[in-house]
Amino acid sequence: MSTPIVINRYNGKEYFALERLAAGAPVGAFECRIGEYADYLREDAFRTQTDHVALTWLLRERENHGIAGYMSLIADAVKLSTAEKELHKLDYPFKTIPAMKIGKLAVAEAFRQKYRGVGTYLIYHAGRFARNSINPYCAARFLTVDADVEHDEGVLAFYQKTGFAPNAELTGKHRKTISMRLDLYV
Ligand SMILES: CC(C)(COP(=O)(O)OP(=O)(O)OC[C@H]1O[C@@H](n2cnc3c(N)ncnc32)[C@H](O)[C@@H]1OP(=O)(O)O)[C@@H](O)C(=O)NCCC(=O)NCCS
Repeated sequence: MSTPIVINRYNGKEYFALERLAAGAPVGAFECRIGEYADYLREDAFRTQTDHVALTWLLRERENHGIAGYMSLIADAVKLSTAEKELHKLDYPFKTIPAMKIGKLAVAEAFRQKYRGVGTYLIYHAGRFARNSINPYCAARFLTVDADVEHDEGVLAFYQKTGFAPNAELTGKHRKTISMRLDLYV
């Protein structure tokens, strides 16, 4: 097998184009190691977008036009403990801080063989959207995610590598997901 191409924020544009999910987009061929994530893209993503419940972005390979990955983004808020607020220098009497959430994120298995860093590249774009697109109109301090450790415990390490930290609230021993946040302004 040939060595995977390493994708990052500087070279990503050469290999991939990011586009909003549109009617008739060829999502049928998308295969992910966790079937639920492929099912969501094929069966639910367009409806949730039409209903303004989640907005999906596809990462399309320039060379062969295949869909390498996708992310669905939603508005969110995160509850922080006193210690967490101190950590982020957020000296406010309330717990809830505005955020943008990665509701779904997946990279097609075939593309995980060909490339490294596609998931990280999608997260980079999510952060960029929150900072540059939401920001002039509405505040969002964090990028959040519920890391789906039920399907893959390793996903926690993936999010930690991309800069997320687990939240004190909604993180417990027997949870199927771990609530995590990334500060967009540090
Ligand atoms: C999780 C997922 C999006 C990561 O995408 P990816 O393109 O493989 O990730 P990257 O190549 O950007 O990985 C960045 C780092 O995280 C590590 N990593 C990625 N996925 C990992 C996993 N599942 N377990 C452990 N480590 C992982 C990589 O090895 C890499 O580490 P390195 O920098 O030390 O080499 C992808 O594996 C996926 O689609 N999984 C199935 C769906 C899913 O679990 N989505 C998340 C739900 S919350």
